[in-house]
Amino acid sequence: MTDTSLARNLERTGQGHIVEHLSKLEPAARERLERQLAGFDYDLVARLAEIAVQDGPDRSVDDFEPAPVLPLSRSAERVRAARRTGTEAVKSGTVAAFVVAGGQGSRLGYDGPKGCYSIGPISGKSLFQIHAEKTLALARRHGVTIPFYVMTNRTNDAAIRSFFEQNDYFGLESENVLLCSQRMLPAFDKNGRFILAAPDRVFVSPDGHGGAYHALLAGGALDDMARRGIEHISYVQVDNPLVPTIDPLFIGEHVQAESDMSSKVLEKRDPMEKLGVFGCVDGELRVIEYSDMSDDLKRARRHDGSLKYRYGSIAVHVIGRRFARRMAEVNLPFHVARKRIPYVNTDGERIEPEKRNGRKVERFVFDAIPLARNPVVMEVSRADEFAPVKNAEGDDSPATCRDAMMAKDRRRLARAGVNVPDDIAVEISPLFDLNTEHLAAAGLSDLSGRDRIYLE
Ligand code: UTP
Repeated sequence: MTDTSLARNLERTGQGHIVEHLSKLEPAARERLERQLAGFDYDLVARLAEIAVQDGPDRSVDDFEPAPVLPLSRSAERVRAARRTGTEAVKSGTVAAFVVAGGQGSRLGYDGPKGCYSIGPISGKSLFQIHAEKTLALARRHGVTIPFYVMTNRTNDAAIRSFFEQNDYFGLESENVLLCSQRMLPAFDKNGRFILAAPDRVFVSPDGHGGAYHALLAGGALDDMARRGIEHISYVQVDNPLVPTIDPLFIGEHVQAESDMSSKVLEKRDPMEKLGVFGCVDGELRVIEYSDMSDDLKRARRHDGSLKYRYGSIAVHVIGRRFARRMAEVNLPFHVARKRIPYVNTDGERIEPEKRNGRKVERFVFDAIPLARNPVVMEVSRADEFAPVKNAEGDDSPATCRDAMMAKDRRRLARAGVNVPDDIAVEISPLFDLNTEHLAAAGLSDLSGRDRIYLE
């Protein structure tokens, strides 16, 4: 017999079909499903089911003013001052790295957590290793400890934990690497009912990158940061190995503005590139999602012919620790995404739907920005900071990402005075201290005639 309080919760939230389904299951399967169901917060389920059945795009916007952006072309003096401030913050041990890796990586279709994917063009290093080594290199440069936090989800947490263990935390100390798992939420059908992923399991998925605030709090990371004196959280997505995991310049702009949350943007490749844009709507600075803008709005131009919404968000932020705690306690909005979700029907058959039959509910990390004091929006260079791994092939794929990594490293070598052929395959380990003397000592002033070089 199903526990009556569980049955009551299911009934009151419109999940009567699950009560009926439970009554038909074998005891072992019923117990497994009941265990999962007992873990849900039914007040939240009631709210989510109501949101999930609403029709239409949730926040489409009309014409709005683009947000003020700190452009790439600002004075060298300003850049120097900000970098100095950011470097001081790093040196004083107040900055932590935070890599979000709780997504499902469904578009990439890799069998494992996306962060374990091998991306180094020559080394084959994983996405996690690259972020960990960038953090380690910065820590060594300044003789400080930089804690490294990773957001996982309930499904990939164990695999990520053992990946870090097996690889000796990529040179970071194990006590300075803290994983925290985000919540999973049930998805709904168009009538607000749970979807069965298997006869003994309701379909659940991670609660979006906006689940990061709650995950940091519930996983003890915010308390750990407070104990260590961390004030600034450098938030990056695991699938962008080009971005500095911690960028002293960005930290410096954030600190100087006394901001609660800052963001990086770059010039969109074209008006239809699928990036959110920053805008002022009803007096608030926020990210307007790509899907909430009409095509006409995306293509809007100013009198001088330039694109009106020219900057796209790359989901890189600095977040104040105290602000993150506040955001863990406020109710950021939920958004609905319609997806194709395979399910089992009442006869226990697995169905691969052709249409989008399910509605996932997620929170977005950037929904905190309207609540932030003095949010900074800073432009960065695409070539230096953005090459996400999203798709198996084509745009934003491992191939485009590796090309971008090699092109960046060729430019870095050329800037250090090395003669670099255009087509040479290059990879510079984050742990390699790239300076002119090192290169000269290693006899690397001219690479012509070579077809690849890996600097470790
Ligand atoms: P994306 O939204 O691009 O998705 O996540 P994804 O999960 O990597 O891949 P798809 O959409 O299933 O193909 C951007 C970043 O946000 C993290 C991801 O791990 C990635 O680093 N993320 C996303 C989370 O940590 N949790 C989430 O719930 C969603």
